[in-house]
Amino acid sequence: MCGIVAYIGTKQAQNLLVEGLKRLEYRGYDSAGIAILDASVSGSRSPHINITRAVGRVSALEDRLEQIGGLRGTLGLAHTRWATHGGVCEANAHPHKDDKSGIYLVHNGIIENYSALKIYLEEKGHKFTSETDTEVLSMLIGELYEGDLEAAVQGALREVTGAYAIAVICDKEPDTLVVARKGSPLIVGVGDKEFVVASDASAIVAHTTQAVTLDDYNVVKITRDGFRTSDIHNATVSHKVTQLELDLDAIELGDYSHYMLKEINEQPRSLRNCFRGRIDQREGKIVLGGLTTYAKELVKARRIILTGQGTALHAAMIGEYIIEDLAKVPAVAEYASEFRYRNPIIEDGTIVVAVSQSGETADTLAALYEARDRGALSLGVVNVVGSTISRDTDAGVYLRVGPEIGVASTKAFTGQVAVLTMIALFMARRRFMSADQCADLLKVLDTIPEKIERILEQDDVVRKVTQKYVERDNWLFLGRGYNYPTALEGALKLKEISYIHAEGMPAAEMKHGPIALINEGMPAVFIANRGRQYDKVMSNIAEVRARGGHVIAVATEGDEQIKNHCQDVLYVPEVPECLSPMLTVIPLQLMAYHAAVMRGHDVDKPRNLAKSVTVE
Ligand code: AGP
Ligand code: GLU
Repeated sequence: MCGIVAYIGTKQAQNLLVEGLKRLEYRGYDSAGIAILDASVSGSRSPHINITRAVGRVSALEDRLEQIGGLRGTLGLAHTRWATHGGVCEANAHPHKDDKSGIYLVHNGIIENYSALKIYLEEKGHKFTSETDTEVLSMLIGELYEGDLEAAVQGALREVTGAYAIAVICDKEPDTLVVARKGSPLIVGVGDKEFVVASDASAIVAHTTQAVTLDDYNVVKITRDGFRTSDIHNATVSHKVTQLELDLDAIELGDYSHYMLKEINEQPRSLRNCFRGRIDQREGKIVLGGLTTYAKELVKARRIILTGQGTALHAAMIGEYIIEDLAKVPAVAEYASEFRYRNPIIEDGTIVVAVSQSGETADTLAALYEARDRGALSLGVVNVVGSTISRDTDAGVYLRVGPEIGVASTKAFTGQVAVLTMIALFMARRRFMSADQCADLLKVLDTIPEKIERILEQDDVVRKVTQKYVERDNWLFLGRGYNYPTALEGALKLKEISYIHAEGMPAAEMKHGPIALINEGMPAVFIANRGRQYDKVMSNIAEVRARGGHVIAVATEGDEQIKNHCQDVLYVPEVPECLSPMLTVIPLQLMAYHAAVMRGHDVDKPRNLAKSVTVE
């Protein structure tokens, strides 16, 4: 959901800002812009800010900069946009400026009361040049500016509602950068007489690993000699400089053609990292240091509410099934965006689990706060260390799958399912499960990475099957039990990168209406590995075949008879049902990837999407 990079120091800012934008481009990429303060005083020219913006990727901005011979200066800010208010055009690209005080600003988030503020500012005579909510904030800061940029920013932020991460400069203050956040992430990288501010660590670690992660309502005034953290009422706020944990090599593409393919193939390794030190087969137990303090609350939990959006919600749904199945605790997975507005009932003994790769998803954060503020114990299952969810929950478990760059989530999904499986076993072992029972499951859990390696070896088979159906415009994904959330995930993967319309549903649900969609040759992907409902799924397959549908089955290795009932079969190794989603999802990820490539789409930056949706 957009990327912000800002710099103040002694180096020329342009290349540093552009390289930072490239690191953040996965967060949003419909347009980009840069503004740099040129403090060189020649003749009558006082310090002034030059701005360049371009529609499209950061490369389009680079071309524009080359055409104009680049921008000089050691203080600047840059932005990649994911439009919320106002179309994708140069006029709406950031940075935005005011028309009075020489204020330049980049923003991630939504100023919800921008309409009322715009009317007020227009009545004050301000002339707007864009359709964005962001420009309203720059105009408001300009309106309030009386020679103190920090005070003007604080004053403006006291007037706005919504979410923001902002970086602001002013041509009257060549030695000052002001940044602030509420609801959207922002990190201040602390260097030697220089500071790099960005939406996430990937744009900072090349310069420094010492950083301050802003909290909501923080305002930071930065000069080359240091910085001050306050709140929007100018009260000084303490801050903590921490070590950023990000290995840049982990976010290099390597020999892969796309980050998504790299991350699909990383899953054996990423799950080994996720499991490392947490599976104790000998003692037949799970070790989750982040939950130890709350082990008693987990054991005595009366209800678990799992919440998230998109892929994270699908993982949460698997968590619902496996917690009830193994730990025998009532569990429910909820769309965060729905849960937060439903006036939920939170009784004693309720635990809310926020599932999120980025740890910054606005709806998931809001649902978390809603449950936490009503008394629930809050846990985070997130990938990004130091993310807002990880900081705003009582405890949690990191995925440890490494940075996920591809917008379509793959290794984070299997990581989320793996962590939720371990949490279920952590609870089950402290409730009814014996050490031997647990050890038996852990023995299989430990083999999941190598089993995924075997599935990945079938990539060419998956590609050939995909080739047969890639021109079809409507697909169904169906499964029962643990395979129902996985069917939803398969449909989402296909939709979001190949733009093929796909619908996931419980296999039994098809008879209650969607079967009307089946026509000759329509692809229906069934997750039909061996399990409690295998025979029922076979009946559903027959119902589709009877109406001309073409069935692609994800089945258990050794199941030869299923070939007689389907056009195509993709095999996965046999494991207990509760552990199967980490395997059955792999062919679906590969299928979506190949479909997107065959259709010529940008796999890692699909249209209209962004990696982390930090707005509602
Ligand atoms: C998944 O492929 C999508 N990119 C999207 O649904 C994503 O899972 C969702 O936005 C939640 O993101 P999060 O895990 O960072 O909270
Ligand atoms: N709401 C702002 C806009 O539409 C910011 C969007 C973003 O976070 O990229 O320009």
